[in-house]
Amino acid sequence: MDANDMGDALEKVLISAEQIDQRLTELAAEIDRDYPDGDLLLVGVLKGAAPAMVDLSRKIHRPIEMDWMAVSSYGAGTKTSGVVRILKDLDADVHGRNVLIVEDIIDSGLTLAWLKENLINRGVNSVRIVTILRKPDAAQVDVDVDYVGFDIPNEFVIGYGLDYAEQYRHLPFIGTLARHVYEVEGE
Ligand code: IMP
Ligand code: MG
Repeated sequence: MDANDMGDALEKVLISAEQIDQRLTELAAEIDRDYPDGDLLLVGVLKGAAPAMVDLSRKIHRPIEMDWMAVSSYGAGTKTSGVVRILKDLDADVHGRNVLIVEDIIDSGLTLAWLKENLINRGVNSVRIVTILRKPDAAQVDVDVDYVGFDIPNEFVIGYGLDYAEQYRHLPFIGTLARHVYEVEGE
């Protein structure tokens, strides 16, 4: 799916596929440099981080393993509460391992703060976070994010893994939706 297929549902392209690709190359180089040797397990957070996990991992030149988790955060409306439920747990035992969490977006930061704490409690050797996008509110939560693709304004975005009502995850770019899409779906 591309911008043409979206017709008037697309408000604007915020970050192009080319910009994402270029930034992932830079992040992968940082990761290669920061983990020169030893164990490294990438943990992708389903479903949103799937494209980032695939594209980023292919740009990493050192050996890695990959695993997946799915979590859901309870919240009123569109805001996360920080209370998280595991829908799909890791296959791997992460005790003693070096884990790099791959996320699509950090908004309130509550989901990631919970996830990081959860992995620390399993006795990981180290845990770091890479996120493609970060919104301004994330600054208010005390969670260190080690690698950030792009800092974006406080707008609802779709594409590159991010959905609105499970739609638009397969867009190759990150964009915003036209207002009439929310109004129709919201009623
Ligand atoms: P938080 O950081 O705990 O507030 O939650 C982050 C999660 O909320 C992400 O993993 C997304 O699933 C979802 N989310 C936050 N902002 C957006 C957005 O702009 N578009 C789509 N999903 C979003
Ligand atoms: Mg997510």
